[in-house]
Formats: sequence, structure tokens, C-alpha cells
Amino acid sequence: MRKLGRLATVVALVGMGVAARAGEVEVLHWWTSGGEAKSVGELKKIMQGKGHTWKDFAVAGGGGDNAMTVLKSRVVSGSPPAAAQVKGPAIQEWAAEGVLANLDSVASAEKWDSLLPKVVADVLKHKGHYVAAPVNVHRVNWMWANAAVLRRAGVASMPKTWEEFFVAADKVKKAGLIAVAHGGQPWQDFTIFESVVLGVGGAKFYSDAMVKLDPKALNSDTMKKSLETFRRVKGYTDAAAPGRDWNLATAMVMQEKAAFQFMGDWAKGEFLAAGKVPGKDFLCAAAPGTSTSYTFNVDSFAMFKLKDANAQKAQADLAAAIMGAEFQEVFNLNKGSIPVRLNMSMAKFDDCAKLSSKDFVDTAKSGSLLPSVAHGLAVRPELEGAIKDVVSQFWNEDKITVAAAQSRLVAAAVAK
Ligand code: BGC
Repeated sequence: MRKLGRLATVVALVGMGVAARAGEVEVLHWWTSGGEAKSVGELKKIMQGKGHTWKDFAVAGGGGDNAMTVLKSRVVSGSPPAAAQVKGPAIQEWAAEGVLANLDSVASAEKWDSLLPKVVADVLKHKGHYVAAPVNVHRVNWMWANAAVLRRAGVASMPKTWEEFFVAADKVKKAGLIAVAHGGQPWQDFTIFESVVLGVGGAKFYSDAMVKLDPKALNSDTMKKSLETFRRVKGYTDAAAPGRDWNLATAMVMQEKAAFQFMGDWAKGEFLAAGKVPGKDFLCAAAPGTSTSYTFNVDSFAMFKLKDANAQKAQADLAAAIMGAEFQEVFNLNKGSIPVRLNMSMAKFDDCAKLSSKDFVDTAKSGSLLPSVAHGLAVRPELEGAIKDVVSQFWNEDKITVAAAQSRLVAAAVAK
């Protein structure tokens, strides 16, 4: 009896504690596909478990362009959400506007500095203060394939070079299937483009041309070859590609309509959500010529300044939960990415994730761990938009020559 009485008191106190500090967190994100929605659902569950109210603010549109437009209007009108999916240099721009909250007390209590790779922590800090919390590491330079389609077409293994890729793609075409499932949207076009540049030119060239936007690299023969190779890939996509969402392209691979897709590992989240088995139903490999490099895309939530004390508490709990081991595991198992928190066990992860984790560590040492331009980790948003436009125009309009695209790239890079 006495024991029960004590338990009741503890339960009551815990209940009071939760009630006293419960708040609402409004979270803006663009995770609306099957695998994405399942992943963000895990964060919602954790926050609800802490007694908070989750207000979902999902803005559909892969790559987040629509979400960023909506975010701007909310912040300008003075009612930002508690947290918004913002990445890379865009975090700095929001922080410079003075609208982001300082997360240092959560970060130091939870020891973020020792749990994050420095290259990641630097992206999340503005003038030395944490303003965003990271959820994962996505690898962008992946190639996905349907194993049955490859068998049917007589492709024995995943192509390792672009030349091998075109041989394989011809075999798929001959078998009457689509070689490359693609969604024609600027961020998807650029996802292929940056993998081609990396595969053709290597890590140093990618860094010079794509990250530093060095005019010499942009004007070089290696860039010429990259653009030619990129245009060749287009010949293996179907006529209905323009405007297609990325997850519908992934579905084409799943449904044995297409052989390959070049996409970050959120595509794996889609395969898994549909019950497909890695290594059996679908295959993963680094995009041709890129196995010793890694283009990274870290999803993170920037936290906005809020007035209400309960909302601030809920926001701090959200930041702590995001970096917590429990969330990092369950979220990334669903999302297709790997935990950004260091020293996590990979025991429950599949072989694609284990490869990603190993390559992340190896490439960080060798200097070939590179930020993805397509996914907002490398250059300022305005500049990114300008070079994406050039690349998508080149992809869409066959009459634009390689030479013209090269000089437009240089012009876009120096103008901004
Ligand atoms: C994000 C991913 C997301 C993908 C497709 C990427 O830019 O980093 O989290 O799944 O876009 O929407």
C-alpha cells in the first residue's frame, strides 16, 4: 500500500511537471513522401511523449523550394514556426537577420560539441553559437537500381564508371525498359549533375568547380566533359520526366519500369517504406566514378525566437530530442540516412547505411567529404539558384551548346 501511495505521488509530480512545462511546437518541413512522413512521425511521437503538442507544418515539394518560400512569408509577417527545416549556408542568412534562437544551453548540457563532427557543428553555429539542430547525414552521390530489371537486361553488376554505366543503360533500353528514372525539377537535375561532375572530375575538381565556383575550373575541359556526360544521361530518361516528383521516379524503379535512379538516400527510405529489401529487391552503389568521395547533405532544424516561455521550453526539448540517441536511431532507420551523432551503433542499419557510415569517416580523413550543392550545403541560396537555373536550362533545351552552358555557369558564378 505504502509503495503504491509513493508511486501515486511520483506519478502526480511527474504529471504536474509535464503540465507545467508543456508547450506547442510548430515544425515546418517538406517530408511528405511515404518514407519521409514515417520518419518525421517518429519525432512527433517523441515530442508528444514529453507532453508537448506537435503542430505539423508540412509543405510538399521535394528539395524544399516551396517550404523555403512559405517560411519567408511566415517570418516576414512576424509569426515564425518554432522550428523549420533549414540547411547549410541558409542557416547563416537567417541568423544574420536576428530571428534565430540561441541553443547554446541545450547544446552544452547535451555535449553537442563532442557528439558532432566539427564540419557539421560549424554549419549549425552562427558567430560561435548554436542556432540549429541536426537530424542526419544523407549521402547524395548514390545510384539505386532494381535488381530484377538488371537481371532481365543482362547487367551483371552495378556500373563503376560512366562508360560502364552507358553500356548497362543501353542493355536496359534494348530490353524495352527505361534506363534512368528521373523527375525533371531543377534540384533533381542538379542532383544528377553534381554526381556526374564528381565522377568525371574527382573530389578536387568538384570542390574547385562546384563549391569554390572557380572560373578556371568551370571553363576547363573537365567541365566540358562533365556537361557532355550529363547530356548523355538525359538520353536515357523518359519523355514524361519533366516535373515528376522524385518519389514517383523511385516508384518506377520499384515497379520494374526503370532500372536506375540517381538520388540521395532518402530514396532508400521510400524503398524501405514499401517493404523492399536492400541487396535483394534494390541495390545501392556510389554513382559511377564516385566511390571514394562523399557528397553530404545534413538536414537540420533552425529554431526561431519565440516569446512564450512554455513554447521556448518545448523548443529546447525539441532540440535536445533531435540530438538524442533514441531519435537519431529510429529516425535514420526510416529516413535512409545515417545518424549525425558520432559513436552510434550501426548494428540495426542495412548495408547501404553501413557503407555510407564507413565512407563518411574515410572521406573525412582523405579530404573527399564534400558538401552537396543541389541540397543547399555548399553555396549561398541565391547563388545556388542561379547555377541550378543554368544547369536545368542546359538539361531541358538541347539546342544550348556545352560551350554556351559553360560560359553561362561562369557568368552566374561571378554575378552573385
Ligand atoms: C532533404 C531530404 C529530403 C529530400 C527530398 C532533401 O533536400 O535533405 O531530407 O528527403 O530533399 O524531399
